[in-house]
Amino acid sequence: MTYLDAILQKRRSIRKYTEEIISMDKIEEIINAGIWAPTACNLQAYRFIYIEDRSLFEKITKAGSAHFLANCKQAILVLYKKRTDNTEYSDNILSAGAVIQSMLLKASELDIGACWVCNLPMKKVMRKIFNISNRYNPVSLITLGFPANERKEVKRKYTVSEVLYINKYTGGGGY
Ligand SMILES: Cc1cc2nc3c(=O)[nH]c(=O)nc-3n(C[C@H](O)[C@H](O)[C@H](O)COP(=O)(O)O)c2cc1C
Repeated sequence: MTYLDAILQKRRSIRKYTEEIISMDKIEEIINAGIWAPTACNLQAYRFIYIEDRSLFEKITKAGSAHFLANCKQAILVLYKKRTDNTEYSDNILSAGAVIQSMLLKASELDIGACWVCNLPMKKVMRKIFNISNRYNPVSLITLGFPANERKEVKRKYTVSEVLYINKYTGGGGY
């Protein structure tokens, strides 16, 4: 197995963390991994809010986010340039996704547990809580912490041969 394969397979969504706090230099390493991701038109229009204030986790949980956030101590909120135009909107969301995946892989390499969270309060509520300018969209939150349990294997639904077609899609009606 190559080094990259090992990192890819080790990465799992981790939602329970120990009390140990991740140092700021590791947080910065994770953000730096995001900065090296590809972005549409090389826009690099991301911003990151590092969250360590417990009252903010309580606020977003009360406002309707995923429940496990109430017990989080550290997270990074990923923002990306706001666009309402359809094409640019999807380009920007895809770019933010590439940034987030790079950050998750870096966390995995550092033995830090992370979870990609989209189940967040409405954007206008997020803007208010985190003082986000109208020029950025809060795209996703990445929760972080040292894993409290062994990483569970989450089986994949398909093998490569079940989802791969050559030259034309010949798979019929859908999944
Ligand atoms: C776009 C996106 C949004 C997600 N949102 C949430 C979420 O709101 N809450 C959560 O607990 N997990 C969330 N996840 C994590 C998925 O549940 C997880 O990746 C999936 O169950 C596969 O498990 P694995 O990451 O351990 O391989 C999200 C993942 C993605 C890609």
